[in-house]
Amino acid sequence: MSEKQLKLKTMFIGTRKVKEYRETIPIWVKEDDVVLEIGCEWGTTTRLIAERCKEVIRTDISPECIQRAREKHPDLHFEVLDGFDVRAALDLGKEFTKVYIDISGLSGYRALMDVISLLMMYATVLRPEAIIIKSGALKHFAAHCYAWRSGD
Ligand SMILES: C[S@@+](CC[C@H](N)C(=O)[O-])C[C@H]1O[C@@H](n2cnc3c(N)ncnc32)[C@H](O)[C@@H]1O
Repeated sequence: MSEKQLKLKTMFIGTRKVKEYRETIPIWVKEDDVVLEIGCEWGTTTRLIAERCKEVIRTDISPECIQRAREKHPDLHFEVLDGFDVRAALDLGKEFTKVYIDISGLSGYRALMDVISLLMMYATVLRPEAIIIKSGALKHFAAHCYAWRSGD
């Protein structure tokens, strides 16, 4: 593990299913936040985030989803983006304080390594305060982790 990874301040919040994912919004999203949303689909969760923060940039890999989301919410900012392309996220040029991730295929147990790599990429490059992700695999893993401290 590198020195940089050891100094990470980003919190990772694993949720299972969309209800839990959305339940985090009133707890984690604050009025000064600039939020990056990855996997916004038609923009339903987006609306809930937008009501609580300074700015939210909504992104999805699907141009069709982005087109439909723009038609549904013409006042909001949507971009086509592959969530695994962290360089493209950096090029959006914003100081993101929170990142919301809900992309297909991250819940199954076999997806755990992909989820962890994705989180580490965003934590080291964008350095947000927190990343909230819809991933049953991460939630399950986190629930079985214990960070040992000397003296425990
Ligand atoms: C379950 S839907 C998101 C639902 C949305 N978050 C909501 O709460 O209404 C998953 C979305 O992930 C998008 N997606 C899949 N792979 C992606 C990737 N690599 N980068 C960004 N979006 C991706 C899909 O196009 C789809 O719109």
